[in-house]
Amino acid sequence: MLETKINVSFYGHVRQYHNIKEEIDANIHQVLESGQYVMGPMLKRFEQELAAYHGTKYAIGVGNGTDALWLTFKALGIGPGDECITTTNTFFATAEAIWFTGATAVFVDSDPRTNCIDPSKIEAAITPRTRMIVPVHLYGQCADMKAIRKIADKHNLKIVEDNAQAIGARGDGFKIAELSNAATISFIIQKNLGTFGDGGAIVTDDPEIDRIVRKLRNHGSDKRSCHSMGYNSRLDDLHAGVLSAKLKHIDHWNDLRRDWSARYTKGLVRAHNITLPFETPGYRHIYHLFVIETKKAEHRDQLLNFLNDEGIDAKCHYPIAIHQQEGYPWGQKARIAGPIPNSERNAACCVSLPMFPELTEEEVDYTIDRVLDWDRRAR
Ligand SMILES: Cc1ncc(COP(=O)(O)O)c(C=O)c1O
Repeated sequence: MLETKINVSFYGHVRQYHNIKEEIDANIHQVLESGQYVMGPMLKRFEQELAAYHGTKYAIGVGNGTDALWLTFKALGIGPGDECITTTNTFFATAEAIWFTGATAVFVDSDPRTNCIDPSKIEAAITPRTRMIVPVHLYGQCADMKAIRKIADKHNLKIVEDNAQAIGARGDGFKIAELSNAATISFIIQKNLGTFGDGGAIVTDDPEIDRIVRKLRNHGSDKRSCHSMGYNSRLDDLHAGVLSAKLKHIDHWNDLRRDWSARYTKGLVRAHNITLPFETPGYRHIYHLFVIETKKAEHRDQLLNFLNDEGIDAKCHYPIAIHQQEGYPWGQKARIAGPIPNSERNAACCVSLPMFPELTEEEVDYTIDRVLDWDRRAR
């Protein structure tokens, strides 16, 4: 056991800022001097860069990842009476965005290994009211989009990828936003492409989604003083400037995440009481989060508290599945299709270890050492 206690934080926001300070500061300075801070030239530039990065025709910046979801759903005509299929072991916003439209959230189980939606559970949940599937690329790994696309084609369903967690990930022969109507992104600081606050975007090849979301994000207006019912959800130019600087580094940062993940995996493979993340062969998992699971649910808080006491800021994503939270479904329409033991196991057993590109070998090795120490003594 390594004797010296060190503190390992969960995020590296300030380290990342210091590493590319000149590029970020230059973009912020450019925006400040331009005098255009809302829907200005920096937003336009970043939208073009984001679309080019994804290989899509369009990218639309919005206020946050939740708005990116529900504004896209609105653009696809989703509303009351419609059913939308997703999972409960995700951040609350995935379901919340469905509920914003007045539609019914239908929850199916997740895959026991990837924790993304299990395509084999989707068809049994489809009814004549089903309109859309919302797979979440959980923890940085793409859901099985080829299988989901086949089901959507067979039943004439829309697909919106909740890609809050996996910018730069890839599937086996498919890219994000390639097999769906659109993919949505969150730029909140803790995401793998994060700004100093909130932000979001939609990437799509569909000109109608582009046209409608652009209008909706700006009070239903595409011409000065002409409005229709919409909303105020714009990505500020200062955030666009920060994101434009960071986008240039995202592939390298994702590579570093993959390196830390490989180091964790090598170090932890001999632990008996935990399961390590599963990377689907042929996929590029970008490890937005490095989530291990305790084999026994009663071990989860034990391990979490042990690591926290040892100075390691481990967390849980997400410790209470949406359907198990108090107040569910908050007056909204929801249905759980079939038993969902994998989503429930994932929520009960997950522990996220520190994962960000700017970690050091000392921090990762110390974390491995402490997990192994807990594992030796776990009962
Ligand atoms: C899977 C998922 N969907 C949606 C969101 C919502 O994004 P935001 O917080 O930017 O609204 C998040 C992140 O917070 C998320 O992790």
